[in-house]
Amino acid sequence: MDDRYDPIGFWIFILSFLGVSLFFVSVIFFRTEFFVDTQKQSSSATQLVAGEDVFVPANVKSPWKSSDGLARYGQKIYKAQCAMCHGDSGKGDGMASAGLNPPPRNLTQGPWKKGGKPSQLYTTLANGIAGGSMASFAHLPSVDRWALVHYVRSITKDKPAESEAQLEKFYQTKGTQ
Ligand code: HEC
Repeated sequence: MDDRYDPIGFWIFILSFLGVSLFFVSVIFFRTEFFVDTQKQSSSATQLVAGEDVFVPANVKSPWKSSDGLARYGQKIYKAQCAMCHGDSGKGDGMASAGLNPPPRNLTQGPWKKGGKPSQLYTTLANGIAGGSMASFAHLPSVDRWALVHYVRSITKDKPAESEAQLEKFYQTKGTQ
């Protein structure tokens, strides 16, 4: 048997070993990056990426003021929490609406039992409406409820105005609870 040391074979072995190691290191590195990214997205329902702007509700200083970002964020929550009853487009025709008495409100129309001003919608979301299936959503963060208010007002015809001063006062007394 010929067991002479073969330098070329040795280097081919070392190089392919390095290549394979490098491959694994890069896969691990890439996967780690990938993992961190998905974590970032799923850990926050608090982050909405639409086009180029990154909207972080927790950073909103005055959630009682309507903005595109908040309304879009509200729409996202609406789809998850409200559409089953109020319907995808708010007409009161969600999958779970059949047989409910009273039926879920057609949000695009009103009229409102408890009022359609922002502070009144916010109060409805905080308290729910007794005697039916409109529950309290007080367990949602306050900024989420404001986002829902702005979304509902963005899809409805029945949106009585409220002065900024009144609304800010409401926010300071009751709007963060
Ligand atoms: C289980 C079904 C159900 C879900 C889920 C639900 N609602 Fe309702 N909602 C109702 C019903 C039923 C009414 C009508 C209650 C009544 O007339 O007494 C109602 C009424 C309302 C009203 C009208 C209040 C008024 O003053 O007339 C608003 C606004 C509203 N819902 C918003 C929401 C939002 C926003 C969500 C999601 C966070 C939501 N609802 C989730 C069933 C639901």
